[in-house]
Amino acid sequence: MKKKFPEHFLWGGAVAAHQIEGGYDQQGRGLSCADVMTAGSNGVEREITHGIVEGKYYPNHEAIDFYHRYKSDIRLFKELGLKAFRTSISWSRIFPNGDDHEPNEGGLQFYDDLFDELLKNGIEPVITLSHFEIPYHLYEVYGGFRNKKLIDFFVRYAQVVMHRYKDKVKYWMTFNEINNQADGQSDLHAWTNSAIQFEEGENREAVIFQAGLNELIASSKVVKLGHEINPDFQIGCMMAYVPVYAYTCQPTDQMASIKVMHRRYFYSDVHARGRIPHYILKYWEKKQYHIEYNAEELQALREGCVDFIGFSYYMSGAVTTVDELDGHDITDFPHAKMSQNPYIKSSDWGWAIDPVGLRVVLNLIYERYEKPLFIVENGFGAYDQKMADGAVHDRYRIDYLKQHIEQMQKAIDEDGVDLMGYTPWGIIDLVSFGSGEMEKRYGMIYVDKDNQGHGSLARSKKDSFEWYKNLIAENGWTK
Ligand code: BG6
Repeated sequence: MKKKFPEHFLWGGAVAAHQIEGGYDQQGRGLSCADVMTAGSNGVEREITHGIVEGKYYPNHEAIDFYHRYKSDIRLFKELGLKAFRTSISWSRIFPNGDDHEPNEGGLQFYDDLFDELLKNGIEPVITLSHFEIPYHLYEVYGGFRNKKLIDFFVRYAQVVMHRYKDKVKYWMTFNEINNQADGQSDLHAWTNSAIQFEEGENREAVIFQAGLNELIASSKVVKLGHEINPDFQIGCMMAYVPVYAYTCQPTDQMASIKVMHRRYFYSDVHARGRIPHYILKYWEKKQYHIEYNAEELQALREGCVDFIGFSYYMSGAVTTVDELDGHDITDFPHAKMSQNPYIKSSDWGWAIDPVGLRVVLNLIYERYEKPLFIVENGFGAYDQKMADGAVHDRYRIDYLKQHIEQMQKAIDEDGVDLMGYTPWGIIDLVSFGSGEMEKRYGMIYVDKDNQGHGSLARSKKDSFEWYKNLIAENGWTK
């Protein structure tokens, strides 16, 4: 890489509150959906329990104890040279039940202290309002985001924190990876995105369309409100972008790819364009889904378009209609199935490694919306090994990041994409969202803790730490 990145490019690191903080019952915090998820393992789903069940292990309760150690962790972030740190606010620290009338001062104070500490060290906070930890009570009493009452609860929560931190936080995002839940097939995603557990016999896809639309309405109201609180706020959405390629040049493969992408675009189209796209209205009509919305909500969508598109990028996919090819069936297009792309390798967790796919995504989204883009997650989950010298030589992680950063640079320099920043995921090792493991590590900072919760929690630098530090110091130039 020879060229540097734009001036003021936000080089950073990303985490989420529930995956690092711990302190799940401290200073008046209420239970969240993440607190009732046990640890799974590679290929084994996490269990969602009814409340906390004695004898089960819940890795998010302590996580990496950032709640008590954030000052020393921020010293390491400063040493790395981070310009931005993306984390989330734990909703149930602020409103323990979600529907409380008054916010919890203990929780508000914690984030005051955290943001002050970041700013003191020259690091800009980038804040997600809802990152997979809706207050548990909102599931128990209201059934999660299937219920429109949650729109108001979310807006009230956002109003409180945006007002409180109006001079400390400029960059906000509303719902993390809002499109994860899109097809309604995953119990985990319905739970973490929307606090929803499906009922026997109900149409899961229709339930998720309703919940997703409710979240989009809530998001638009928060964007409008945020701009009223502070016109300088930059408020974005947060999408999981997995570009899905046509596996072959057979025209039906191309059509299948368009239909699969519609499922993702639905969310960012509403966020960025302020209206429900034609292809989704037609789909609802064909399926006879009666998704509820009214004129006031449609107006809110129009008035609350996001300022930038935040997104995660980890992998690409491929779809085909060719009979002879293997793959798992999907419903987006007749005879379509997702198939393994033979041109790229995968991580130990089966995540396709495709740096060029990042450039593809940057182009697709920028062409579509012409709004600034922000890569707020990207990274390599791997089994790290501590060597005899106590170090982690994670060349594989450096290679992964470097290849992705090279593609970002091409998107900026050759394609003219407006990219605001890059906050690689799990800058410090944390609890995996999907599997609940500690040993699926993304960090440049190692945390001594294993999948069973044992370890000293001591922090140490991996080889990638020095590498990233130099890259930031040189604004993107690296060997
Ligand atoms: C994204 C989430 O899905 O990917 C993060 O926003 C998550 O919360 C990250 O941790 C990586 O996924 P996983 O399952 O490897 O932790």
